[in-house]
Amino acid sequence: MLGSRVLNTLSQGQFEIYGSGRKSSEILSDDHMFIGDLTDPVVLKNICQVDFDIIIHCVANVNLNDCEVNRDYTYELHVSATRFLASAFSEATFIYISTDSVYDGDSSNYTELHPVYPKNYYAFSKFEGECASLISNPNAIILRTNFYGFSYPTGKSLFEWAVGELQSGNEVSGFSNVIFTPLYVGQLADLIFAICMNPPESGIYNAGGDKALSKFEFIQEIAAQFGFNIDQVKSTISTPDMFPIRRPDNTSMDISKIKKYFPAEMFSYTKGFDELHADFNPKSE
Ligand SMILES: NC(=O)c1ccc[n+]([C@@H]2O[C@H](COP(=O)([O-])OP(=O)(O)OC[C@H]3O[C@@H](n4cnc5c(N)ncnc54)[C@H](OP(=O)(O)O)[C@@H]3O)[C@@H](O)[C@H]2O)c1
Repeated sequence: MLGSRVLNTLSQGQFEIYGSGRKSSEILSDDHMFIGDLTDPVVLKNICQVDFDIIIHCVANVNLNDCEVNRDYTYELHVSATRFLASAFSEATFIYISTDSVYDGDSSNYTELHPVYPKNYYAFSKFEGECASLISNPNAIILRTNFYGFSYPTGKSLFEWAVGELQSGNEVSGFSNVIFTPLYVGQLADLIFAICMNPPESGIYNAGGDKALSKFEFIQEIAAQFGFNIDQVKSTISTPDMFPIRRPDNTSMDISKIKKYFPAEMFSYTKGFDELHADFNPKSE
């Protein structure tokens, strides 16, 4: 979801843009795509043929179950490939998209100085990718984030799932004890654009929205904003036995550090929802 949004946003600037993925892009022509698996040394070598000034590393396997089962492959993708690219482009600005799930979720309002404690292999390997980036590239910028939005064709994100269920008239359950600080994907793409234009000092940045809320409240907000019946949204509690894979409960982040570099409105939850509303209007489809 993020990669295509970043492509759209950056194409409004003065950049020559290349992309990567396992299949052709609908946005970029094949001569500006590195097509193949990022664990394949040939693909990595091909990427090194271009002298990039900026690398935006969005590639990851976001399927938690898959990461847990295929740990060696996940390590190759999230850590080894990251280390290779960060090192090969050590002169470039290297923006690594990480996750709020590196935090243990047992506390709240995490700052970047809080010790990390990834609870599953996805989060562990993403954290190892952060370390590989910082060790291999003096210009590495790590964005710990959690974002919402939608893809073309429609994907499986929380927002897309909730809208689909609400549209079908179904009841939707949201966890009232799972708290996060989400950023709209368009806002995250704008932030990445701003970083490309004017990079902050290398390091780790929490890149979330300015409001902590539960998944239940988030789905209620979707229902309210998009004209569905708010009573379709039910509150429920997440318990460890519900999932085979451990997940953090409260990953709300303190975003003071990144707000020193970029305007506060870039992280406004209200503004993000307004942008989402403008970009996506299911009632008119
Ligand atoms: N979604 C969230 O809320 C969230 C939260 C925190 C962090 N993040 C991070 O944000 C980044 C983007 O996530 P997303 O939600 O946009 O995920 P996504 O839609 O699944 O996109 C992942 C991208 O990685 C590419 N990819 C996956 N496996 C690959 C492989 N083996 N070789 C080459 N390319 C591969 C995919 O391209 P193809 O399909 O063409 O291979 C796709 O472009 C990830 O780094 C993720 O860890 C996401």
